[in-house]
Amino acid sequence: MTNSPAAHNIEILYSEEELNSKIAKIAKEISAKYRHETVYMFCILNGAAHFFSSLTSKITDVDVIEKYMRTSSYGANTVSSGKVEVEVTFDAGTNIKDKPIIIVEDIIDSGHTMETLVQIFRRMSPKSIEVCTMLDKPSRREVNDFPIDYCGFTVDDVFIVGYGLDYDQRYRNLPYIGYIPQ
Ligand code: IMP
Ligand code: MG
Repeated sequence: MTNSPAAHNIEILYSEEELNSKIAKIAKEISAKYRHETVYMFCILNGAAHFFSSLTSKITDVDVIEKYMRTSSYGANTVSSGKVEVEVTFDAGTNIKDKPIIIVEDIIDSGHTMETLVQIFRRMSPKSIEVCTMLDKPSRREVNDFPIDYCGFTVDDVFIVGYGLDYDQRYRNLPYIGYIPQ
């Protein structure tokens, strides 16, 4: 099986080139904002892994500390359930007190994951919290007590796969973003 969209019956929304240029643009904004500062960037696994590594590798003149966390929604397979269990996988010694942090996510859907994450980080008293998401699906929002400071693309209510996003653990490796037509 090849990685072509036809082989997977996927409609392309954003090509690898479009993703790269959007990510470069966001990286430039972050580079300008945090120039010569130390910023903690948190990758929300697994979905954000591709976006995160592409993004951090394009950031210049910033002292970036990469951190990784995992989240999972109870009972959710392909659709997020609303109830979020956040499993923190970074080492307990991670001290972000008075440090600027950026949470990097693949997609914000109902908003429950991001709201939970922001609540957890607020308790750690960082200097500031910014949110960077590759995709935003605002039509599905249920809660929104968090900022969105950087956003790649706003998408309609379709099920997105590729570039880290999965359908039942598949398609994360696709170099583009698309959706599975129903
Ligand atoms: P939320 O808590 O509803 O905002 O959902 C966040 C998580 O649900 C994301 O981090 C994804 O892992 C997953 N998710 C939401 N929408 C999609 C989608 O269209 N494709 C793949 N995963 C999705
Ligand atoms: Mg995710």
